Amino acid sequence: MNKNTKESRQLEHISTTICSSSTDGSELVAREISDLIRSRNADEQHAVLGLATGSTPIGVYRELVRLHKDEGLSFKKVLTFNLDEYHGLEPEHPESYAAFMDRHLFSLIDIPADATVVPDGKVPREDVFAYCKAYEERISEAGGIDIQVLGIGRTGHIGFNEPGSGRDSRTRLVHLDSLTRKDAARDFLGEENVPRYAITMGVGTILDARKIILLAWGDSKSEVFAKAVEEPVSDALPASFLQEHKDVRAFADEAAAAELTRKKSPWLVGPVEWTERTTRRSVAWLSSLLGKPILKLLDEDYSEHGLADLLTERGSAYELNIRVFNEVQHTITGWPGGKPNADDSHRPERSEPHPKRVLALAPDPQDGALGLGGTLHRLVDQGHEVTVAYLTSGNLSVPDGEAQKAVDIMLDLDESDSSEKSAFALQVKADLAGREAFGEDSPAIRKLKGLVRRGEARAAMEICGVYSSQIRFLNLPFYENGRFRSFEPREEDIVLFRELLEQIQPHQIYVTGVLSEPTTVQAVCYSCFQKAFELLRGEGWTKDCRCWSYRSDEREWSVEAIDMAVPLSPDELANKVKGIYQHRSQRSQTPVIGRTSLEAWQQAEAADRRLAETYDHLGLAEYEAIEAFSRCNP
Ligand code: F6R
Repeated sequence: MNKNTKESRQLEHISTTICSSSTDGSELVAREISDLIRSRNADEQHAVLGLATGSTPIGVYRELVRLHKDEGLSFKKVLTFNLDEYHGLEPEHPESYAAFMDRHLFSLIDIPADATVVPDGKVPREDVFAYCKAYEERISEAGGIDIQVLGIGRTGHIGFNEPGSGRDSRTRLVHLDSLTRKDAARDFLGEENVPRYAITMGVGTILDARKIILLAWGDSKSEVFAKAVEEPVSDALPASFLQEHKDVRAFADEAAAAELTRKKSPWLVGPVEWTERTTRRSVAWLSSLLGKPILKLLDEDYSEHGLADLLTERGSAYELNIRVFNEVQHTITGWPGGKPNADDSHRPERSEPHPKRVLALAPDPQDGALGLGGTLHRLVDQGHEVTVAYLTSGNLSVPDGEAQKAVDIMLDLDESDSSEKSAFALQVKADLAGREAFGEDSPAIRKLKGLVRRGEARAAMEICGVYSSQIRFLNLPFYENGRFRSFEPREEDIVLFRELLEQIQPHQIYVTGVLSEPTTVQAVCYSCFQKAFELLRGEGWTKDCRCWSYRSDEREWSVEAIDMAVPLSPDELANKVKGIYQHRSQRSQTPVIGRTSLEAWQQAEAADRRLAETYDHLGLAEYEAIEAFSRCNP
């Protein structure tokens, strides 16, 4: 065993449970909290909980509420302290963490109002220091925190302890990182509205808790989660300080755990069952580690890097290289709908029937162009019957300024007109003017914002070659009736989905959201799709239907997950970017000089180019860019 392998055996410094789903993980954690409350209460004592906000703990709160309602769990003798609050927001502000806690937990259980403490975002600056000191004292007076629940931010923050926060930091006012503010932008309708400061418990305050539970769901957390668990402790990644706590455990779903060594390169940490995927992953890993194309890897490259087992099981490097090279080669196709009249035994998609009925599902209007703008164009050019279904209106993420512009155009057009359209425009104008800051959009505003996004979607699809007659707008009700992080899909959503599938009876479906964090629009849409598909499973066409999963975020699939890779020429890539570019309302509203974060079209372009480079480095052909898909079974 080489040095690399030995070191990797002790890689996880936080004991981690990988759960089959975030729901299962949340139930486990809620059960642990309820056991604590019950045992404390049996001794006539209070349980003291440290709580977090954000998407991550929502499932735990939902389960605690269920335990309260169905199993009589009482919170009368529970005290809670929240990790943090935006500075400048009053508790009534809908995006304050105080309001969040009320919405998701406090108002739904029997906890006394004075037993819940959330930092006060309205403390004047000059009083913050004393206030934070008093916050710490209140925690001590309560006897300290029994269980602290934590999520992790993409910067590696816990609470709002951003990179640079020290091991001994205490409750204080902090400046928020730009990535953190970007992640909160959807809640505040634009990054510029996200507060710049917050009050947060310090790393030291968090580490004082007797027990800590760190949660991570969805693949957007996979990289930072693996770093927190496996990399050396550093103030560059504050969550890594948790490794120093004597009673800390992490719970992650499969998607969030994907970058842990035991998942990503399991041959480094123990025996492996060599499936086709793990084999492909290990060969791609070795090739990139050594900077050698697959076909140049030697027996000793494998054996010196912990892959001797693989050779024993699968033959010599020569045979293995050729096999994996061919597998990856066969993922590449310029015919995403299948090549008619061609031998398809080594092609990702079958040649018959041709043309195919293709259904592309875009949960957020931008997703379609982002994930498969180039592929859609090919499918249309190659004669397939392509329908693009926009699942949600996307109206929650349209800034007021965009709605204002649209309404002004409408009013300029028919100034003297008293038509219904004018009345609608006047209504929107009045609603926009009269609405309180961060108050909810009126139905008229939401309608107009949805129309703004429809226009953008049509423009994008025209560029991708899809006629407007081939576009469906589903406006799924869960989105129209919900808000970010708390969507609740119902029967009516599934019914609409089912009708769509029944009408089209597609041979191919493109979906996204398989690995997304469960409260996201993408994940909610995917779960509706799964349920609708399940209901139709008996129908003949479903047997002949293939599902292709695409990514609509800034990350690309890893090589072993790819079943179909569609190369894009420079022109096709430019065209795709132009398509994404049509979603103008989704751009950063205030360009900042020197901004490091990229706009959506730049991220998509970079991801497609990176994937092409990866294929190139493995020794395959050198393309400009690649859009990739993974086969999935709904
Ligand atoms: C929230 C908090 C933050 C979040 C983190 C992850 O009180 O302190 O550290 O836990 O930003 O946020 P989500 O869960 O929304 O991904």
